[in-house]
Amino acid sequence: MPKRAHYLFVCVNRRPDGNPKGSCATSGSEAVHAALKEELGKRGLVKKLARACTSSCIDVCHRGPVIAVEPDGYFYGNVTLADVPEIIEALEKGTRVERLVVRDDDYDPPPVPRA
Ligand code: FES
Repeated sequence: MPKRAHYLFVCVNRRPDGNPKGSCATSGSEAVHAALKEELGKRGLVKKLARACTSSCIDVCHRGPVIAVEPDGYFYGNVTLADVPEIIEALEKGTRVERLVVRDDDYDPPPVPRA
């Protein structure tokens, strides 16, 4: 298989319903992964531009579904199915979808209010 320009690691970690950390799978990441694969396939980009892979937890659970874009070195957060075409179009243009990029100061979850 050829080396792709980008690898999209979609976290598909699943925690039980009700877990306070939540998880990407319970937020819909498995469907996002499937949609990325389908969109790349439709556009004929699977073997050159990008491969959509899955990953375990990458520890930005509060922003799930999360995608680590490598080797570019940024994460997308709160990704929905509606975002998938825009994400692929941005890769094609050599840009990124800024509104989805997890900021450097947003890797920690917000503090939990004390009871
Ligand atoms: S469960 Fe996806 S980043 Fe932790």
